[in-house]
Amino acid sequence: MWDYTEKVKDHFLHPRNVGEIENPDAVGIIGNIVCGDALKLTFKVDRKTNRIIDVKFQTFGCASAIASSSVLTELLKGKTIEEAQKITNQDIADYLGGLPEEKMHCSVMGKEALEEAIKNYKGEKQPIEPQGRIIC
Ligand code: FES
Ligand code: FES
Repeated sequence: MWDYTEKVKDHFLHPRNVGEIENPDAVGIIGNIVCGDALKLTFKVDRKTNRIIDVKFQTFGCASAIASSSVLTELLKGKTIEEAQKITNQDIADYLGGLPEEKMHCSVMGKEALEEAIKNYKGEKQPIEPQGRIIC
């Protein structure tokens, strides 16, 4: 059994900001090549301040992916796009009080979905819906 922190368990059992934002300013979708799981991140930006005012996630993922995505949404709220860009997957894992080494790739999925969403916000990329789900 994995050794999860209380914070991971809390965010897995009570994930924050689950769902999809209507008319989002940014969409980031990523598939995890390690395990075949997927994550969709959507957010709204206040164009005047350049700050993320609302953010939601949906994942077909494991406990660590759910907890990582949940804390990522907490980390993102109120941040400017420039500040959001600096968030690393280590920041996500640290905020969770750590992740087992074998589960670090789950936090990478959050970071990559964020990168995709920022590219989409800047008009550099259209989100691509994953083609079905690879069974783990
Ligand atoms: Fe993560 Fe299947 S749920 S590998
Ligand atoms: Fe696939 Fe965690 S995201 S095992």
